[in-house]
Amino acid sequence: DLGGYPHYMAKEIQEQPESVERMIRGRLDDRFGVARLDGLNLTPRELRGFSRVKILGCGSAYYVGQIGATMIEELARIPADAEAASEFRYRNPIIEADTLYIAVSQSGETIDTAFAVEEIKRKGGRVVGLVNVVGSTIARACEGGVYLHAGPEIAVASTKALTNMAVGFALIALSLGRVRDLSNADGRRIIDAIRALPGQIKTILDAEPEIAEHAKTVAAAQSLFFVGRVRGFPVAREGAQKFKEISYRHAEAYQTSELKHGPLALIDESLPTVAVVPSDELTDRNLAAVQQIKARGGAVLAVTHEDVDFGELDVPRIVVPRTEPELDPILLTVPLQLLAYHAALSLGYDIDKPRNLAKSVTVE
Ligand code: BG6
Repeated sequence: DLGGYPHYMAKEIQEQPESVERMIRGRLDDRFGVARLDGLNLTPRELRGFSRVKILGCGSAYYVGQIGATMIEELARIPADAEAASEFRYRNPIIEADTLYIAVSQSGETIDTAFAVEEIKRKGGRVVGLVNVVGSTIARACEGGVYLHAGPEIAVASTKALTNMAVGFALIALSLGRVRDLSNADGRRIIDAIRALPGQIKTILDAEPEIAEHAKTVAAAQSLFFVGRVRGFPVAREGAQKFKEISYRHAEAYQTSELKHGPLALIDESLPTVAVVPSDELTDRNLAAVQQIKARGGAVLAVTHEDVDFGELDVPRIVVPRTEPELDPILLTVPLQLLAYHAALSLGYDIDKPRNLAKSVTVE
């Protein structure tokens, strides 16, 4: 049931404030500044025993996994990384007993991710799931997990499930952090920020008409870059992925820091860049990169915070509310969903069922 929306993607984007509410309901403990994730089936002692985290997923779930890895490194100070499950399963990975493996999947049926889970289990690794569909293959195969409670997601391009995955990683990062060096006060700082997310997402969604205008402008280009660094890089990757999936435009993501090492050669009037420029410790570096793109005739659309000062630079902006810096990627990703949606809409493509793609790839 489309409930009055023109597409499932539009409906699912708008559902995000409630869907995040469901994700966090009953899981935040203010008194101790911790997340309650009983489904993980891990004692504090077990959580404390992991010295590494490896996150596995495919497509957008992999990019959100990268967002999660950064959060875990920042909040828990444990080495964490994400890898495409589709690669992991084919490369004879080294499975370690003190690594926490996290499988991420909306459907819980993606065969590459399910196979990675089996391989980890076969070799004695501990794997938990961050899954939306209750009772799905991956949810059943994992030894514990956190359900996303995003509700059914129909559009091939994932939106609300991804946002709940990112929030799920914030909760897991909090759990891993609070059995280590993250203080009660810092835990509560993160909890307060998580609780504010639904309202902040609503604010972003209210800017839809403005984002739709930006989308029409960028959709005119045949090819575009999405750039971000550190926290912003997986945001750029997911932004580019969503854009190419439904608008069929060539969209490529780079680390902003890498532009000068190659891709800058492609910048001219015909190739616009969507730049993720949050207000954080790297703002100055990001602004310097924007300046370099502009100096070569490239147009820039910034996804940024109110207090970032672009000075003389003529840069249209999509402004996102600030949260705690560690959680910025959760909110920065949301306007990029709307950007992709409106680009595809203005180009007249089939938004919910893009060509050549399936909602979940369950066969070899
Ligand atoms: C791809 C879908 O095949 O699988 C993507 O087209 C999705 O939209 C990815 O993100 C992973 O799917 P899932 O269900 O494992 O999250």
